[in-house]
Amino acid sequence: MSKVYQPQDKFFKKAKEQGYRARSAFKLQAIQDRFHLISPGDHVLDLGAAPGSFLQLVEKLVGSKGLAVGIDLKPIEDLKKPNIKTIVGDILDDAIYQQLGIDQFDVITSDLAPSTSGVKSVDAGRSFQLNEQVLNVAEKYLKLGGHVVMKAFPGAEHQQLLKKAKGMFKNIKTFKPEAVRKSSREEYVIGIERIA
Ligand SMILES: C[S@@+](CC[C@H](N)C(=O)[O-])C[C@H]1O[C@@H](n2cnc3c(N)ncnc32)[C@H](O)[C@@H]1O
Repeated sequence: MSKVYQPQDKFFKKAKEQGYRARSAFKLQAIQDRFHLISPGDHVLDLGAAPGSFLQLVEKLVGSKGLAVGIDLKPIEDLKKPNIKTIVGDILDDAIYQQLGIDQFDVITSDLAPSTSGVKSVDAGRSFQLNEQVLNVAEKYLKLGGHVVMKAFPGAEHQQLLKKAKGMFKNIKTFKPEAVRKSSREEYVIGIERIA
């Protein structure tokens, strides 16, 4: 049996069975299982949140005393949970953050994926630009001691991103969850305990 990519792989099926809107939930679940970043009662900001599977998982992890706020260019169909709030907009637009309703988060997650050109270096550059903004947002809206999770497609500027993150967090880890397709260059950069 060939090992070529099957669109309906095991994580796609698992997402359907468990009511998640996307298989990405299992990427965040693997990060949570390894690093234990999100706790009950936390306020979590999710950048690039549509269709909402990270938010579905975060909502369960933070519980009724916590809050999950998601921002995306695309509207997110109502998740019908009182502790989830969604905002439609561009994370690069500073005005969008006036709608957060809270000014300090315990955790910021980003599964942002730029629109792809198919040219690896161009796509990696766009991902870098988004992640630079994730760190700018963390500088403004992440509590000291808080954590960040961001999806990266490492390219020429990746070391620059890691260098900036190293100056902000006690520990930086990179992690490729099993749910990331083997053929993808995607990985997650995790900043643990904001120090600056
Ligand atoms: C892989 S999807 C996120 C999946 C999501 N984590 C989930 O679990 O359902 C990436 C998202 O990033 C969003 N995105 C890309 N660039 C953006 C930007 N500048 N501002 C806001 N959202 C953006 C896209 O619209 C897309 O919905």
